[in-house]
Amino acid sequence: MRDLNLVILLSLLLVNSVNARNGPAPSPVPSPTPSPSESSQPLDFKYIQLWADADGETHIAQCRMSGFREDAYSSLPQFVRDDFGGNTTKLIFTELSVGLTQPLHSPPAVQFVVTLSGSWYIETTDGGYYAFQAGEVLFQDNTAKSPAAKIPEHYSGTVGDVPCQQMVIQLNRTPNVDSVCPF
Ligand SMILES: *[C@@H]1O[C@H](CO)[C@@H](O)[C@H](O)[C@H]1NC(C)=O
Repeated sequence: MRDLNLVILLSLLLVNSVNARNGPAPSPVPSPTPSPSESSQPLDFKYIQLWADADGETHIAQCRMSGFREDAYSSLPQFVRDDFGGNTTKLIFTELSVGLTQPLHSPPAVQFVVTLSGSWYIETTDGGYYAFQAGEVLFQDNTAKSPAAKIPEHYSGTVGDVPCQQMVIQLNRTPNVDSVCPF
């Protein structure tokens, strides 16, 4: 009787270990995105641009970045782009309060704005409007030093009932006009 119990116990252990090994099917792996060896550029690297025309009116473009190179940035090859026609001069973390509504203005420098959390909008002088979600990137060069006929300006402000957190990266790149999706 004791031997029989032992046999049953061992059988159960064996069955359990087989089940553990076969296990439930692993959750589906997301289809792989191209690696640098398979594609020359990322397929869908989005950014939004707030651009100025020569008259100083402002507009919004939805762009897809290219110009990446294959680079072992940290270890294995990955897509890298680090040339934006100027050097980074300042890194700023900022939070826009709920309800913030900026009058017409131009940014203090040519800059990228990365939305970290919450949401904010830009509204351009052509009536264009875009509300950013976390993870979205803006490039804008409508500064007071723009070569446009007048200073190109826009409205902006917070969207929703939580503050909007941003990371801003300023560049010393020269502002342009009529340059849509420059990267
Ligand atoms: C950016 O930095 C590099 C290296 O220091 C320098 O050679 C280059 O002139 C700088 N470019 C601008 C636009 O400041």
